[in-house]
Amino acid sequence: MTQLDTVILPIAGNGSRMRPATDAIAKELLPIYDTPLLQFALEEAVDAGARRIVLVTRDDKPGIPEYIDKLRARPGGLLDGVEVVFADQPEPLGLGHAVLCARGDALPGAVGVILPDDLILGAPALAEMCGVYDPASMSCLIAAQKVDPAEVGSYGIFDPEGAESLSGLLPARGLIEKPAPEDAPSHYAAVGRYILSDAIWDVLEQTRPGAGDEIQLTDAIAALGGISGFRFSGCRFDCGNKEGWFAATERFRRTKFEAEAMAAE
Ligand code: UTP
Repeated sequence: MTQLDTVILPIAGNGSRMRPATDAIAKELLPIYDTPLLQFALEEAVDAGARRIVLVTRDDKPGIPEYIDKLRARPGGLLDGVEVVFADQPEPLGLGHAVLCARGDALPGAVGVILPDDLILGAPALAEMCGVYDPASMSCLIAAQKVDPAEVGSYGIFDPEGAESLSGLLPARGLIEKPAPEDAPSHYAAVGRYILSDAIWDVLEQTRPGAGDEIQLTDAIAALGGISGFRFSGCRFDCGNKEGWFAATERFRRTKFEAEAMAAE
């Protein structure tokens, strides 16, 4: 089991697909039923063993430091023994740039990355990934989900080297960003959980703006190589769009009610 000392949460994006809600509140503080998205991500980072959580954010995202302060003030709470630091991304220049902004705050060794708006309910995905990450043979382990063929154009798609293993590993030659369905090398999509070896930092420094004129994390990962996908067992919701957020809210509410009913029996 790999110990991830540092987990990075990039949260400096605009959240434009969730407007007008995100004109009033940061996307990461939007509640899934009764729990802010950020809370799920912090819990998942702690489950993966994080000693330090780096929040990559920017000044005009109010509410986030205040939320962290409230959690810290709770004795015996989630953040006991965990350091939370803030790294600034002055402008949203892309996910790769956001991760690079955390470089100065990362502890030595591989880092975890969680995109809080990619919510995974069920087994904590990053901890599952720590269980299969092998630093000797992998530079990048990325959460993988099978998607509908019609949806491949919305994702980075794995170009697999072979079949998925029984443990859910999918060694890959690379990732193809948003392919047309007829060009997609598989239906395995990369979603928002990564374990990255510390070799990623120098590659990110060299990565130039790509698709959408943004510095793309997938471009740096492709340049680094040593890529594996991992089929996590939880259920993922894209809470960066309204329908995904709503579906997650319904599922989480149902799960919570079922758990409460079982506890009352
Ligand atoms: P998204 O592209 O899904 O988020 O980035 P966004 O930019 O907030 O949303 P839209 O597209 O405007 O609706 C995925 C994750 O990466 C972070 C986002 O905050 C989100 O958690 N991100 C993205 C950054 O931190 N910085 C960036 O420059 C880009």
